[in-house]
Amino acid sequence: MRIAVAKETREGEARVAMVPELVGKLTKLGYDVAVEPGAGLHALVSDEEFTESGATIDADAVASADVVLSVQPLAPDAVRRLRRGAATISFLPVNQELSLVADLRDVGATSFAMELVPRISRAQSMDALSSQALVSGYRCAIVAAGMLRRFFPLNMTAAGTVQPADVVVLGAGVAGLQAIATAKRLGAVVRAYDVRAAAAEEIRSMGAKSIDLDLDTLEGAGGYAREMTEERAARQMELLTPYVAEADALITTAAVPGRQAPLLVTSAMVEQMKPGSVVVDLAAESGGNVEGAVAGEVVRIGNAQVWGGKNVPSQMPGPASKLYAQNLVNILTLMTTTGEDGVGSFTPDFEDEIVTGSCVTHDGEVRHEAAREALQGGPK
Ligand code: NAI
Repeated sequence: MRIAVAKETREGEARVAMVPELVGKLTKLGYDVAVEPGAGLHALVSDEEFTESGATIDADAVASADVVLSVQPLAPDAVRRLRRGAATISFLPVNQELSLVADLRDVGATSFAMELVPRISRAQSMDALSSQALVSGYRCAIVAAGMLRRFFPLNMTAAGTVQPADVVVLGAGVAGLQAIATAKRLGAVVRAYDVRAAAAEEIRSMGAKSIDLDLDTLEGAGGYAREMTEERAARQMELLTPYVAEADALITTAAVPGRQAPLLVTSAMVEQMKPGSVVVDLAAESGGNVEGAVAGEVVRIGNAQVWGGKNVPSQMPGPASKLYAQNLVNILTLMTTTGEDGVGSFTPDFEDEIVTGSCVTHDGEVRHEAAREALQGGPK
């Protein structure tokens, strides 16, 4: 059976779904690996490196494959070229990609969305949301440090003492904790807030101070946050205002699964920040935690430079690709039977919750309930 690694076609996407050092793992599972020419170029991986690792470079890789790997969803023309019954594994935000989901259904593809892999312990090694959030979290702390025109760490020198930067992180999930850890390593004084009860201890374990606003915690299903009422949101903003005003750098990473990112910081709050302050909003693409932040741009609000994140993992394409590729190898291992002859067959077990949870289309049907209803014009 043949696995294809697609060349990404979406603007600004620099990652690639497979890296040469992991091709051997797919070969060992019993697959032939074919890579579209130039697929790794933006992640600084050459075709030669793929060839040396045992893959072939093939412009028709996608059309001839049994399983197609990509980071972003395939382009509609690539979907039309798929072999009937072929499988695709990629990120696939179904709500935003309904027409592509319909195309995948119509060509009889079995498609899996990496963001739908259930967050259970057994699936941790396949959790691409976490692996990419790790990259984003690191990157946003580095961006904040780079934009701030002062030191992160305390410096005690013969010429005098330079005080450390005061960094505030809002949202302490996978990305936020990584941002905290990175800012701490750079020597900043870090304070952080998250609505989940478990987060306070996690924040402290990273060496940061947990901001206690004396508000109810908001636990949702699966260890995620719940949405806030308007009243609580307003109170949270009011209580966070002095922390934001004092911060040299504010990093926001808050999200609520399946919903627009919560607005945590108004432009009036940002306007109270000191001259030279920096704001990094990792959620800018999904609505923004900071009012006025624009994805992919730096805007000025009051005294602050506000950086809006846009496809942040792709800004570190090498490590992001490697981690994502490892997630794919792990999910492929779950979905493969390797015969005694060493030949691999793609045999997802539809009794397995990881398989059913992440499957979007199969056998000419949309398996993802909300997407199916939306395509039928039913309740969303
Ligand atoms: P996420 O990307 O959905 O959200 C980021 C953070 O924003 C979360 O910590 C959330 O509590 C916080 N947040 C939401 N609304 C907020 C608000 N109004 N104010 C402040 N903070 C707010 O979450 P992520 O990072 O993907 O995961 C969150 C948690 O899920 C993890 O810390 C962990 O407990 C759990 N998880 C479990 C995994 C597993 O395999 N068992 C894997 C990954 C995460």
